[in-house]
Amino acid sequence: MQKCKYSKPLCEEIVRFIKNEYNSKKIPLHSPRLLGREMEYLWQCIDTGYVSSIGEFVNDVENDISKITGAKYAVAMSSGTAALHMALICAGVKAGDDVITQPLSFVATANAISYIGASPIFVDVDMETMGMSPQSLREFLLSNCIIKGGKCYHGDRRVSACIPMHTFGMVCEIDEIAQICQEWGITLIEDAAESLGSTYKGTHSGRFGLAGIFSFNGNKIATSGGGGMLITDDENIAKMAKHLSTTAKIAHQYEYDHDQIGYNYRMPNLNAALLKAQLENLDLCLMAKRRLANRYARFFEILGVKFITEPRECISNYWLMGIVMEDRVSRDELLEFANENDVMMRPAWKLLSELRMYQHCTKDSNKNAKYLADRIVNIPSSVIS
Ligand SMILES: Cc1ncc(COP(=O)(O)O)c(C=O)c1O
Repeated sequence: MQKCKYSKPLCEEIVRFIKNEYNSKKIPLHSPRLLGREMEYLWQCIDTGYVSSIGEFVNDVENDISKITGAKYAVAMSSGTAALHMALICAGVKAGDDVITQPLSFVATANAISYIGASPIFVDVDMETMGMSPQSLREFLLSNCIIKGGKCYHGDRRVSACIPMHTFGMVCEIDEIAQICQEWGITLIEDAAESLGSTYKGTHSGRFGLAGIFSFNGNKIATSGGGGMLITDDENIAKMAKHLSTTAKIAHQYEYDHDQIGYNYRMPNLNAALLKAQLENLDLCLMAKRRLANRYARFFEILGVKFITEPRECISNYWLMGIVMEDRVSRDELLEFANENDVMMRPAWKLLSELRMYQHCTKDSNKNAKYLADRIVNIPSSVIS
């Protein structure tokens, strides 16, 4: 191992521990675990000839996600971003509206809002959950918004939706956020892209508002290669999401007629075949993640470094594990040393409110988000089998 050029031997200790855990020279941040019936289902899918957007595997994974989450309806999409875009359309968010979200998230959260022609408002996250802070949400609304005719307005702009995100699989204080949204006439949509398998007070993430979405990108806890899912308990929303994501085609044996401008957002059957195998092993994967998180927690406690553990009332999937360093300088020292030594680590995202496309958007102090973004380091989190 290359010698740590920094003052503290901390980086060396961390990298040594992770290399021992994984017993490997080069360690990715998160790689998929493809050890179940993936091959079998993919062959089966190819055998049927139904490799595109129609096929039994797509229906199967929709049923699987309904069962896992307890949601009445699940609609498979080509990505988590597509699912989020679709959720906003189905919720009736319009161009010129404002949508409240959090600054600490992947860019897709804000992009989906922009696809509609709406603008994101960034309210701060909670220090413990790293997801939207209900206190910050309430303070923002009280100081900047009014209710007219049961609807929320920010100046003359309608605040039509709120999208909290469950950061790295930790569920934020979503019941309180749901309560605030209800009081203010704002539709709640959960960006649960990272939190398949995570619950809050015993209810699966994604189930607290009108709709929730998951991502099955290659780096997620269960992958379809690329894909997403919208969940909802509302039959009309589910029907609309399915119709619009399949080009708004009117069902007919041979005629092509479409009743509105739709989207080609349906998950292909080939991707669903992979996902079906992944979902069969979700419980095993969740247990293995928890074991790894426990080992990390013990190690970092001895080292005196804060390892991010599940917040109150949340059972986390521990999708992407992380630590909070003392400051940005020590964060960058560790990132540089680990990546130079083939242990992949990364910082949390650059805050969405600081990206050039979103710098002009309304935001509060974003104080906690800035603190966390300066200090978080995500560490290798692949399941060790
Ligand atoms: C918080 C969050 N939202 C949305 C997405 C978008 O999902 P996808 O990559 O499947 O489009 C992702 C992940 O990729 C994510 O982490």
